[in-house]
Amino acid sequence: MNKQSRVLVLDFGGQYNLLVARRVRECGVYCEIKPWSTPLEAVRAFAPDGIIFTGGPATVSEEGAPMIDPAMFALGVPVLGICYGQQLMTHLLGGSCRMACTREYGKAEVTHDGQSALFAGIEPTSVFWMSHGVEVDRLAPGFRACAVTADCPTAAIENPEKKLYGVQFHPEVLHSVHGMEVLKNFLYGICGLKNEWKMSSYSQEAIEECRAKVGGGKVLLALSGGVDSSVAAVLLHRAVGEQLTCIFVDHGLLRKDEGDQVMEAMGVLGVRVIRVNAQKRFLDRLAGVTDPETKRKIIGEEFIRVFEDESRKLGRVDFLVQGTIYPDVVESGVGGESVVIKSHHNVGGLPDHVQFREIIEPLRRLFKDEVRQLGIELGLPESLVWRQPFPGPGLAVRVIGDITEEKLAILRDADAIFREEVANAGLDRSINQYFAVLTDLRSVGVMGDGRTYDYTLALRAVETQDFMTANWSRIPYDVLERVSSRIVNEVKHINRVVYDITSKPPATVEWE
Ligand code: XMP
Repeated sequence: MNKQSRVLVLDFGGQYNLLVARRVRECGVYCEIKPWSTPLEAVRAFAPDGIIFTGGPATVSEEGAPMIDPAMFALGVPVLGICYGQQLMTHLLGGSCRMACTREYGKAEVTHDGQSALFAGIEPTSVFWMSHGVEVDRLAPGFRACAVTADCPTAAIENPEKKLYGVQFHPEVLHSVHGMEVLKNFLYGICGLKNEWKMSSYSQEAIEECRAKVGGGKVLLALSGGVDSSVAAVLLHRAVGEQLTCIFVDHGLLRKDEGDQVMEAMGVLGVRVIRVNAQKRFLDRLAGVTDPETKRKIIGEEFIRVFEDESRKLGRVDFLVQGTIYPDVVESGVGGESVVIKSHHNVGGLPDHVQFREIIEPLRRLFKDEVRQLGIELGLPESLVWRQPFPGPGLAVRVIGDITEEKLAILRDADAIFREEVANAGLDRSINQYFAVLTDLRSVGVMGDGRTYDYTLALRAVETQDFMTANWSRIPYDVLERVSSRIVNEVKHINRVVYDITSKPPATVEWE
């Protein structure tokens, strides 16, 4: 890890806290998020070159509002307070805040006076994103307002001598037209940092770090075929070569050709993967099961059993690799010091009986898009790196009702056509997840001169940032028409295709 330059993002619970950190890294500066309650000593030990306070839902004057040790402002480290961060800075340094006369939510025109380093090179008036009901009323001594909106006289404040800055708007949000410039001005101009956080250097450092940690030990990784575990596998392989064994449990619920593609990609890179063909084991246990939760439980349990059976054959293992990524670490509320083992995302539990000394999480400092960049850097094919999310229980939750080999085959073929056409239409990067669902509904149709009585297939496509909420995707009708006609013509036993036009909430992304 590059120790020379780093920014600390102190999290006050704002909805954009991860975004702040992402933007900083997009500026080529390494940063970490820590909770606002991080003791001053820990902040000092982290030795940041700049500190950013995120926004947050609290009001500084209310009881129990998050506070920090004011000595933080005397560290000599530049601070940028965003929204609540600006108010907190003002409050702690002798100014005050009040309820804003006019609450501002959404886009606001911000005008700066041309005197602040924070706005260097930015046109005098431009749109920034506001979301606040409180504002700075009386400035703390040594501060001046350097930008205003029609309703807010303290849209940005500064004490350049002490390198303390505050903004009422959210520079991290894309709607803030010059938001990135404000952040760059803070990072490069005020903190004196450089654009030097690069995936290539990160990759080399991470490989060396893993190598040092593992020494001569034996490493085991459960490969799911998803982006995170694949990238983790390649990284570890670069670090320790043959000391790494990956186990890829093929539960027979993967998409068309997916298992082969994973094996091929890993094979090209020389990663040793044991593929366990456990289709029969899973299908036998799932036979006749229709309840979604029962399906999920069975698959989770069976996965662990298969994994344990295989790993037992390897004898003692020293390290188990997990593909935990940064948002998981932050969202579990630990901000970096986690000893809690996160349950395996794709399978819903960690094997209890696999003996290992330690967990390695080589991606725990990376955001999803950085994991993808790292994957490319390490030589994984784009098709794998840009793979859309796929649930651990696989197609089992996309075959409604009981699961049979025949139904899985129908779904695989239909799903492959849908994916192909979405890609042909150039929509595969803008739609975040898209797949087919085989309903257990049959209906009457007519094909040629004959009557059919076959399955109804549903298409699902969503656009989302975080999968917590999602909008159904407005796929052009002509694309839908092509998909529908190809599916009913090319896939036997489907005579009707419907498109799911429900957002989340109230629906979920998956049907089960
Ligand atoms: P839902 O259906 O909950 O899906 O709206 C949100 C996102 O999570 C994925 N998903 C899963 N991923 N194991 C996973 O690794 C699971 O059991 C699982 N269930 C849903 C889903 O595909 C969507 O991206």
